[in-house]
Amino acid sequence: MSKYKVSFLVSITTVVFLFGACTTGQLGRKNSTEYYNGMVVSAHPLASKVGLNILKKGGNAVDAAVAVQFALAVVYPNAGNIGGGGFMVYRSASGEISTLDYREKAPAASSRDMYLDSEGNAITDKSLYGHLASGVPGSVDGMVKAHQKYGKLSWAEVLQPSIDLAANGFALTERQANELNSNAAAFAKFNPGKDYFLKSKWIADDKLVQSDLAKTLTLIRDNGREGFYAGEVADLIVAEMASGSGLISKKDLADYQSVWREAITGNYKEYRIITMPPPSSGGIALIQLLKLVEPYPLKRWGFNSDSTVQLMVEAERRVYADRAAYLGDPDFFKVPQQALMASSYSLSRMKDFNWNQATPSNLIKEGVIAPKESEETTHFSIVDREGNAVSITTTLNGSYGSKVIVKGAGFLLNNEMDDFSVKPGTPNMYGLVGGEANAISPGKRMLSSMTPAILEKDGKLFMIVGTPGGSTIITSVFQTILNVVEFDKNMQAAVNAKKFHHQWLPDEVFVEKGTLDSLTQIKLQKKGYKITERGDIGRVDAILKTKWGYYEGGADPRGDDSKMAW
Ligand code: DON
Repeated sequence: MSKYKVSFLVSITTVVFLFGACTTGQLGRKNSTEYYNGMVVSAHPLASKVGLNILKKGGNAVDAAVAVQFALAVVYPNAGNIGGGGFMVYRSASGEISTLDYREKAPAASSRDMYLDSEGNAITDKSLYGHLASGVPGSVDGMVKAHQKYGKLSWAEVLQPSIDLAANGFALTERQANELNSNAAAFAKFNPGKDYFLKSKWIADDKLVQSDLAKTLTLIRDNGREGFYAGEVADLIVAEMASGSGLISKKDLADYQSVWREAITGNYKEYRIITMPPPSSGGIALIQLLKLVEPYPLKRWGFNSDSTVQLMVEAERRVYADRAAYLGDPDFFKVPQQALMASSYSLSRMKDFNWNQATPSNLIKEGVIAPKESEETTHFSIVDREGNAVSITTTLNGSYGSKVIVKGAGFLLNNEMDDFSVKPGTPNMYGLVGGEANAISPGKRMLSSMTPAILEKDGKLFMIVGTPGGSTIITSVFQTILNVVEFDKNMQAAVNAKKFHHQWLPDEVFVEKGTLDSLTQIKLQKKGYKITERGDIGRVDAILKTKWGYYEGGADPRGDDSKMAW
């Protein structure tokens, strides 16, 4: 054999071997991407592994979801949390649906003008960083309620893997090491006298051990809800608040309750979308967006063609204008939910759409500017052997939340208060503005964009999807769904696809590099669209049930996200 043939064969063998190894390592099944028994897709390989192990042990999708929520609090502290909140959408194998709202709440001592100076100007730093930025955390109560209602394994069994990860430590990815390094000054500033997360320089594979967090998780394992909202951990949270003029009191913690809410549902062609109601704006906005584009031949126009992008941008502009005006916590503000999702409204909403030129946002509707949120949240999708499905998006809001770590308890608190309109009608530092609907009030939940969703096709489970990304969450979920149902992409390709985003104001189409080819871009610009390149949009983690019955995962390559299945 010639030496060229030998080296060719060696290369081929290496490629085949490496491919096999990768597939086995990532997916646990050699040379196949067909998984029938369950799947977990999350922002961190160790959290996905925890979820998969729970499924393999006989746990159901909710057991795995609870385990993944706690595991992410350990291995992905940017957004995984026990000091924040989130939303869960659930669909059982038999089609029962429910949603759980474990969003944070404004402390009882909060007030509408708490972030204004004496002249009435917003001091947005205060709603973003430090002790005053935190809402009362909801994640632990949410997980307790989800597990009580649906869990099969014991509470201790689903908590234990996270305790082990916190106590024994885990190896940081390169991305995580860099993120910890770039936040070192903030950790030092907001945590004087504490050494959490601090090291002269983190590098990939460094071990992060979190002993205080392990202790807190053990208290939660042994005492359930009381392990967090009462006793030692509650005392530590209140002491932390006292050290930085924060507002969360013992009573706020004792009073916190997550809430089961009726899911938002709507149809797009032969698909049924099951998603989150207010206080997330995501569900209503997603249904509105799908309804606005449904009458048009997207499939014929094709993925990211000028007509497709123009139509979707015009729909987004209108939906985000409505979001700013009409959405807030339904326990405090009457959200015109049915009116916004009515087909007659969708038809009338596109009447002023003009193919020849962009509709300027200031003609769409008077109102307040749509929010622009900071971008660190996390989503995970899970399906179990029976076909029960969970879609959860959870967050501290900004990366590492308020940056405050509860001394002695080892976890970060959220900066979710910034999701309120700090001063109704005026944009804060992040452009976050809303109206009365989203003004601060004690005990109120701040408006969210998080859009965990589950889709059915012909009455059967079809997709589990969601993403972080602040105000881009809704449009990223919208695009991912269309990428599959209109543009025939498989789940991973739909997740990988470049994304664009319009949120009414600012009146710009934000695109990831490479989203539009130059001809498409020129065509849109000629019609008056301002196109602005920006960094990553979304970090979608999704699962598709194929027509052959096996599951296909989409783990976003924009992060360390990972899919694991069996
Ligand atoms: O609830 C919300 O809409 C925001 N707190 C979410 C923030 C977010 O997605 C940041 N993520 N990447």
